[in-house]
Amino acid sequence: LFSAIEMAPRDPILGITEAFNADQSPAKVNLGVGVYYDDNGKVPLLECVKKAEAILIEKYAPRTYLPIEGLAAYDKAVQELVFGADSAVIKEKRAITAQAIGGTGALKLGADFLQRFAPDSEVWISDPSWENHRALFESAGFKVNTYPYYDATTRGVNFSGMFAALKAMPAGSIVLLHACCHNPTGADLTDDQWTKIINVVTERGLIPFLDMAYQGFGDGIEADGQVVRRFAEAGGALFVSNSFSKSFSLYGERVGALSIVASSADEAARIMSQLKRVIRTNYSNPPSHGGQVVATVLATPELRQLWEEELAGMRVRIREMRQAFVEKLKAKAPAHQFDFVMQQRGMFSYSGLTKEQVQQMRENNSIYAVDTGRICVAALNNKNIDQVIASIAKVL
Ligand code: LMR
Repeated sequence: LFSAIEMAPRDPILGITEAFNADQSPAKVNLGVGVYYDDNGKVPLLECVKKAEAILIEKYAPRTYLPIEGLAAYDKAVQELVFGADSAVIKEKRAITAQAIGGTGALKLGADFLQRFAPDSEVWISDPSWENHRALFESAGFKVNTYPYYDATTRGVNFSGMFAALKAMPAGSIVLLHACCHNPTGADLTDDQWTKIINVVTERGLIPFLDMAYQGFGDGIEADGQVVRRFAEAGGALFVSNSFSKSFSLYGERVGALSIVASSADEAARIMSQLKRVIRTNYSNPPSHGGQVVATVLATPELRQLWEEELAGMRVRIREMRQAFVEKLKAKAPAHQFDFVMQQRGMFSYSGLTKEQVQQMRENNSIYAVDTGRICVAALNNKNIDQVIASIAKVL
């Protein structure tokens, strides 16, 4: 039965962490996976999370099953965070939100749901996109295509190419868009460009699927959520996956959500009933701890305030690392231009390093980046940055 099974390749992102974990070098640095580390190289446990957990422990609540769609308080708080508490889609009960197992779980729920109700549609992802987008939608049964996105010469977005591709897509196509902090490039659209994209998506009857895994890492919670709100106001169908892995530093708790906007409350209720069947046949209902923590923080004004401050702290530290990265490279590799790193948003820099250069850094200096040249700036700190810069300067 198993003799013909071939070895699968390592995951392009999490496989790097596997290789990193196996590396015995004390000087190793993992710039692969999108995880925020503090200046001591540790994944932080946020104060707001500690305080919420202290509140939860006091309650000694029984661990019963959550509803299929997750904790009601969590779904409500997430919906308000994603669309804005005064959003028309919430008031009109046109939005549904279901707790999901991280952002990836939310994407998979959306993909499985769409496969049931729009099986003939094709999926379009940006070129390049998060490594798992293609695999995930393909595994749900879709044909996955790419639309132009990154322009390596300008280090920005190839907007005319992207716009033309969207304009030519058949109605009903599913378009995966990064709501903020594009992964892997860090190159985001401007407000005006988003206006054009929202118009073309609406006019052509495309199905927008916004992936928002890095809310708060661009300009802040409110600012980074604007694209979702603008799509919701545009009035068409909308899918939104969001994640608290990064923004709450709750990676291992797998806390995310899928929201869908329908054209009426009645349609939304029917969508939720079907989404529950998707969830029930996948994993029955979500785990409770992470959802309880996030719901407690979002519903408690002091904790929510604390969360925003802590998130701002992460955002600022990443910017400082971008700055230091650019300045230090200017000194060590003056022939090369890295100023573009300051323009990129979120945790990542699409550094322009080639696969060969990335491999040399891994082999010679135990510095791990994604083969595409994506590096996680949020993993740099004042102790490891010089060694990273020295390694980059060497391979350049
Ligand atoms: C990343 O892009 O590194 C993160 O989203 C983690 C993951 O699951 O790939």
